[in-house]
Amino acid sequence: MSAPLLEARGAHRAFGGGVFDRQQLVAVADASLVIPADKPVVVAIAGESGSGKTTLARLLLGILPPTGGSVRYQGTELSELDAKAHQAFRRQVQAVFQDPFEVFNPFYRVDHPLMVPIAKFFPGLSRAERRQRIEEGLQAVGLRPEETLGRYPHQLSGGQRQRIMVARALLLNPRVIVADEPVSMVDASLRATILETLSRIHRERGISLVYITHDLTTAYQLSHTILVMYQGAVVEVGDVEQVIKAPKHPYTQLLVSSIPLPDATRRWGEDAVDVAPSSVAEPPTAEDGVSGCAFAERCPHAMPRCRKQRPPLVQTDAGRAAACYLYEDAMVLSEAQVAGLSCGGQ
Ligand SMILES: Nc1ncnc2c1ncn2[C@@H]1O[C@H](COP(=O)(O)OP(=O)(O)O)[C@@H](O)[C@H]1O
Ligand SMILES: [Mg+2]
Repeated sequence: MSAPLLEARGAHRAFGGGVFDRQQLVAVADASLVIPADKPVVVAIAGESGSGKTTLARLLLGILPPTGGSVRYQGTELSELDAKAHQAFRRQVQAVFQDPFEVFNPFYRVDHPLMVPIAKFFPGLSRAERRQRIEEGLQAVGLRPEETLGRYPHQLSGGQRQRIMVARALLLNPRVIVADEPVSMVDASLRATILETLSRIHRERGISLVYITHDLTTAYQLSHTILVMYQGAVVEVGDVEQVIKAPKHPYTQLLVSSIPLPDATRRWGEDAVDVAPSSVAEPPTAEDGVSGCAFAERCPHAMPRCRKQRPPLVQTDAGRAAACYLYEDAMVLSEAQVAGLSCGGQ
């Protein structure tokens, strides 16, 4: 079997903990996730704000180095890629961020952020060829080049700007797009079309997606597998049907109980189901949270051991694992096995 395209194994990221900042904040604890080389997949990373989703995305994109564990592209640690492999990684693994305004420079026409990556990665193309590529990219996301090019960012709607970002990611013929809350800043009326565009890109071009969201409904609609994060820890992972229709972790159960399925139309945080809002606790610090289950504070099933040691991910069913002592007879999984479940493999 060939090495996975992109893989996190027990990836860990802490912030702080320096001389002046003794408390370490663990933003991501032991996350394992794989994007196979031979099969396009759609993996959702879901969790409420502050659960570590963006940090995990940045680890996968090589924007941030892990403080433990490993992140590899085609079998090589990102920090050890040589110049050629690093260039290939930068081309094949693309990002779409939450707020496209951070990418656009207000003084440049929107053509600029589209031209720059093409010039960098395909220097041999003629002007006309570059232009053609950009037009194709815009058309692929449902934008008309003649109505888009030559404009300034503020002259376009939020939905158009976000589509340009998707087009920009597409220009380089990537194999994975990591989309971090790509529709959370977009009007509700446009969300569906942007998500449908991403889904179509996956189907028609065989591009894998890592779809990051705080919204379980769209995660369910778009993805095959899901990682549910709570305060840096992956608490449940596997087949999206299993996780959403019959959640095993008490945290996922709480989340799912607040969205009526299958006609799920409500969003997290918008409905009346109250998930102990006052105790949206501090993220775990190295001293306390990580030594126990971060959810123990809010969990109706918490047992003394939950506060002592963080529960490992155990295989509760064929396609899914949960990190919970309620399933003490289930098999503890290795990082490789967890990574396998993350993409629907073995
Ligand atoms: N550069 C950073 N320095 C310090 N803390 C950070 C940094 N980036 C993220 N964090 C912290 O890590 C935790 C997870 O953040 P993040 O990954 O952005 O979560 P999410 O995307 O799920 O909202 C938060 O507590 C956040 O404050
Ligand atoms: Mg985020």
